[in-house]
Amino acid sequence: MSIELSDNATHDELLQQAEALLSVTGDAVANAASLSALLFHALEDVNWVGFYFLKGNQLVIGPFQGKPACVLIPVGKGVCGTAADTLQVQRIEDVDAFEGHIACDVESRSEIVVPLVKGGRLLGVLDVDSPCLGRFNVQDPEFIEDVAGWYLQALTGGRVDSARSRALSCPC
Ligand code: SME
Repeated sequence: MSIELSDNATHDELLQQAEALLSVTGDAVANAASLSALLFHALEDVNWVGFYFLKGNQLVIGPFQGKPACVLIPVGKGVCGTAADTLQVQRIEDVDAFEGHIACDVESRSEIVVPLVKGGRLLGVLDVDSPCLGRFNVQDPEFIEDVAGWYLQALTGGRVDSARSRALSCPC
């Protein structure tokens, strides 16, 4: 399956593209990889998009787009660890004003981290960074939370029937 990304895709267009990607499999890693790529290339003013998965009492880096980042983040540390600890979305206008922020990419100025909770269980977080101050207060905050919701939905029961999955598979 190939996805054509336009520079100014609307949220509705991105939703359609995300639905197509998520319809193929409920695999957690595959879908995290696909959504990271979709968001990184489609959203304006972002420099890092990725998933961390909870393993024990720490977050372990998963599929992402952007510069190499912290591999392990203890729950409770940084913006990601705070989202994991509180189960609350962290929308950080200025990362320098967030005590304990972990600077993986020095260009990051603002950040949103959405906890991924399914059936009352924390699975990990979706993290999006921007080189612009206050990026997530004005652009796309609910949309990114929606993307996290679609990801969770696709993990179970999100698989489409096998006929459609086959139709979307690579024909070669
Ligand atoms: N800034 C995050 C660390 C992860 S990177 O941004 C990719 C934090 O403070 O948890």
